Amino acid sequence: MHSEKVTSPTAADPLSIGQLAERTGVAVSAIRFYEDKGLVQPTRNTGGQRRFKRADVRRISFILIAQKLGLSIREIGDALTSLPDRRTPTQSDWARISASLKDRLDQQIDALTQMRGRLDSCIGCGCLSLKACQLYNPRDRLAGLGAGPHFGVTDPPD
Ligand code: FES
Repeated sequence: MHSEKVTSPTAADPLSIGQLAERTGVAVSAIRFYEDKGLVQPTRNTGGQRRFKRADVRRISFILIAQKLGLSIREIGDALTSLPDRRTPTQSDWARISASLKDRLDQQIDALTQMRGRLDSCIGCGCLSLKACQLYNPRDRLAGLGAGPHFGVTDPPD
């Protein structure tokens, strides 16, 4: 009878895609998607199976946190490729990147706060006029005529 020798993985062993999925809680399909987008770059073993570095656990963590903060896949890719030798973000890399993300979030909050203010003029209005709507046309040249619709939805564009 053939007996297969079972060995425990060491800290230096690369991870299979299943092991990376298990370690990060991310679906295998999502890891393949990240690979397609160049966010992780596994090598292949002689059998053609993906092999990930242990540091890719941290790389996936970076991707997940950045996505939570609203970064697109392209922006995450840009952040990762900006690092020397495409390294996985170090503690100081993340400190620097997260500081710049705070500025970006502050800008988004300001923009949303302004939009919420403009939404007040839409509530109860219903005009959907591209000329008069404060959400669509915040520099409304008809604002001087007062709140509410001045044209209907069938208004021809200028
Ligand atoms: S729907 Fe926005 S002002 Fe009328």
